[in-house]
Parts: sequence; structure tokens; C-alpha cells
Amino acid sequence: MVSRVIPVEVFDLVIFGATGDLARRKILPGLYRRYLAGQVPAECRIIGAARTDLDADGFRALVTAAIDEFVPADRRDPKVIADFLQRLDYVSIDAARGEAGWTTLKGLMRKGVVRAFYFSVAPALFGELAEKLHSHGIANAHSRIVVEKPFGRDLATAKALNATLASHFSENQIYRIDHYLGKETVQNLMAVRFANILFEPLWNTQYIDHVQITVSETVGVEGRGSYYDKSGAMRDMVQNHMMQLLCLIAMEPPYHFDPNAVRDEKLKVIRALQPVPPEDIVRGQYLASKTAPGYLEDAENPESRTESYIALKVHVANWRWKGTPFYLRTGKKLRARASEIAITFKEPPHSIFDDAAGWRENVLVIRLQPNEGMNLKVMIKEPGPGGMRLVQVPLDMSFAEALGEEGADIPDAYERLIMDVIRGNQTLFMRGDELEAAWAWTDPIIEGWEARGDRPKGYDAGSSGPEDALMLMHRDGRRWREVRE
Ligand code: BG6
Repeated sequence: MVSRVIPVEVFDLVIFGATGDLARRKILPGLYRRYLAGQVPAECRIIGAARTDLDADGFRALVTAAIDEFVPADRRDPKVIADFLQRLDYVSIDAARGEAGWTTLKGLMRKGVVRAFYFSVAPALFGELAEKLHSHGIANAHSRIVVEKPFGRDLATAKALNATLASHFSENQIYRIDHYLGKETVQNLMAVRFANILFEPLWNTQYIDHVQITVSETVGVEGRGSYYDKSGAMRDMVQNHMMQLLCLIAMEPPYHFDPNAVRDEKLKVIRALQPVPPEDIVRGQYLASKTAPGYLEDAENPESRTESYIALKVHVANWRWKGTPFYLRTGKKLRARASEIAITFKEPPHSIFDDAAGWRENVLVIRLQPNEGMNLKVMIKEPGPGGMRLVQVPLDMSFAEALGEEGADIPDAYERLIMDVIRGNQTLFMRGDELEAAWAWTDPIIEGWEARGDRPKGYDAGSSGPEDALMLMHRDGRRWREVRE
């Protein structure tokens, strides 16, 4: 299959926080890869801006090191890297302090090209940056800004951030990143649902017994304990990434694949989410092992009640989903690094086979990472003359195998999302009202366990989470799927 790369328009992209972790790991290597792919035209300019006192050559050295570290060797072409480095510039700016650097930045901006500003900085600085970009005449009505999570820590703070940005930019200039929406397989959810007739007639409570959404990680919170301890799995993963996955599974077909049509449908799902009672929530913290510290040590807070694991049962109160629970679970230091969505279908209304034939339910598994792909478990007859015995077999499709080279080289979420910013396509970015609705659902859940003084349950590192999470399913006569890498 030949991949078609259509170059984007010429742009000036300013990255605030350009020497930070996200820029080094994702944004700058991602831009290099798009340059290598021929999607970033040679006339583009990427301007790093940060407090660090550097000149353009110093910044180029930093970017070279980031490419070495985060781009696989077979994608590092010395000639292309040298060319890419020529697209870079740097301005030293301290957003919180003084005017230094802003005039220089203004002087670097060109007329007639797309202007984008990536705020890869703490949200406390968003207001200051937005204000300075305007007071110095650097941002105009066509500029775009990109912001990252954490976008608030509750509804009140999210509203305040939205209001700050709205005082300088209109909604169609604001690109709120949820990197899960940039993942190839996550977008595939929409293709699978809305480009096939096969699934849609079955995609409702009449035929679907339940949905499991799992994001299981093997890493702990070491190194980022001070951020994580103020957040926890609910704020860090559920309010954003997992909520987005749920929306893509549960939403109605939009009338068109258009940013506002898609986001309108997702918003309706979020508004239909029911409050979650305490018995449908399990929170956990990983324990120390002989060789590794536990959550409390990693978080450097021996009293912490923050969860590194959460499982919850969620109901979407509308005609399509009434009676079909969505079970969500995510955690750190678990057995496997794997994310998947599993849709379990109901039993046929009447079985013509004896119980002894061995029936099992159909399951559609969408693997988000690693080994992106889809797997539909169907019943067939066990081969041989032994009578009618049923066996469950997978109709397995690995995207890498099915799509050949193109499937094996799936771009990182950030590559796609940054190109979408330049293309001016907001479909994969969260709208302000969507984000606020997500917090409005999340807040009472968190307030509930805080008011009750609940403590997370301990779980062993390398396990599949706290025992109570198994009970959450058993109680309903169901089982979590075993996740494997
Ligand atoms: C981030 C969270 O948003 O997503 C991290 O802050 C988490 O805690 C990460 O590890 C998971 O992303 P991915 O792409 O590795 O699944």
C-alpha cells in the first residue's frame, strides 16, 4: 500500500516550554518525523521559547539529542536531520517575568503563513502567555494555540482556564490536546463503527451485554510523584483519555465527519453519564515489593490517599445504552502494558445446541496498544467427527500485518495532532463545553470519596490490581478480560 503524504501549509510554530520533557520526547521528534515524511514544507519555521538561556545553535543541539534518544535509528537520516535543524530558531522568554524576548519573537514571525503557539508549560502560565501574545501583537485572529492537560483539576478550575483563554482567543483557535484522540486505533473506532454496516445494527443494549475499557500500565509514578499525587488515576486518565474512548464507543453517528458534529455527539454521551455510587468504584495503590518502592514512597507522601488504580462501572442513560454497563479500569505497575476495548455481545435468544456443546459469548476486542488491531471472537464447530461441539476462534486482524509497511509505521499521536493544528482541523481536539461536562461528571465522584475518607486498597506490583476490582465484576456475574502485552 502506498502512503499518501500531503504537505501542510507553510507555518511558524512557536513552542513555549521547548526545553521541557514533552517537547523533547514528543513534540520535536514528532515534527522531525513529519519532516522526514515530507509533510512539513522546507519553508516552515519552528521556534523554541523557554526560560533557558540558549541560542539557536544550543537549541539545535538539544533537538539533535532528543531525536537521537526518541526516534528509532532506522528513521534517523543525518542529511534530513541537518536540514530539519535549519528550520529551528530559539528565543529565551520567561513568561512569568518581564518583557525580555517578546520583541525578538515578534520580529521572527512572518506574514501570510499559519501561526501556531504550543503552550507546553504549566497551566498557571496560560493566561500570561495569551495576554503577552496579544499585547505584543504576535497573535492575530487566525493564530492557533495548543494546550495540554492537566486542563484544570475540577470544574471550577477548568472553567477559569477556559475563561482565561476565551478572553484572548475564540473557541475555533483553541486546540486542547487529548493525545489518546491522536492514536491511530482510537480513530479507527470511528472508522470501524461508521464505515461498516456490520456493527451498527448490533451496537446497542439489545445485543451488547457490556463493554470493558482497559488501560493497563507497567510503569509506576516514580519521577513524577509530585504531579501525580495531586491528580490520581481518576483525574489523570479517566476524566480525559478513558472518557474519550467511552464517547467514541457510545456516541450516535454524527451527521458528518466534521469537528463540531463529532464533538456534539461526544458531548451528549458525557451529559448522559450517570453519577457513580461508591459500591461501583474501586481504588488502589501499588504496594512496595522486595525490589521496588510502593506508591507511597514514589509519591513521597506516606499519608497519600491518591489512587494509582481505579476501576468503575459506568452507565450511559439513553435509549441506546440503558442496561449495558461500561466497566473502566486503569492503573500503574500492573502486570502488562496493554490498552484495549472489549465489547461483549449477549447470548443468542435461543440455543439450538445442547449445553454440553460449549457456548461462549462473541467478543469484539479493539487493541489500542501494543499490537494495534481487532479481534472478533466467534463460535464455530470443533473440527472432527466428535459430534456437534462448539469452539471459540478469533477472527484476528493485526493492523501491522493487514496494512503492511504502512501499518507497521503508525505515526505517534502527537505527529498527527500537530499536523491537524496546522491544517486547522479540530475534530480530534476537545471543545471547551465537552471538557467542562467531563469535569461536571468527575467532580462529585472525587468529592464523594474525599468526604467519606476512603483509602485506596493495596495491590501487588505486577498484579492485575486490587482484589475488590475482581468483585466489582463477579457481583454482576462477569469477569475482567485478562490483558496481555
Ligand atoms: C498521560 C498520563 O496523559 O497518559 C500518564 O498523564 C499516562 O500518567 C499516559 O502514563 C499514558 O499514555 P500512553 O500513550 O502511554 O498510553
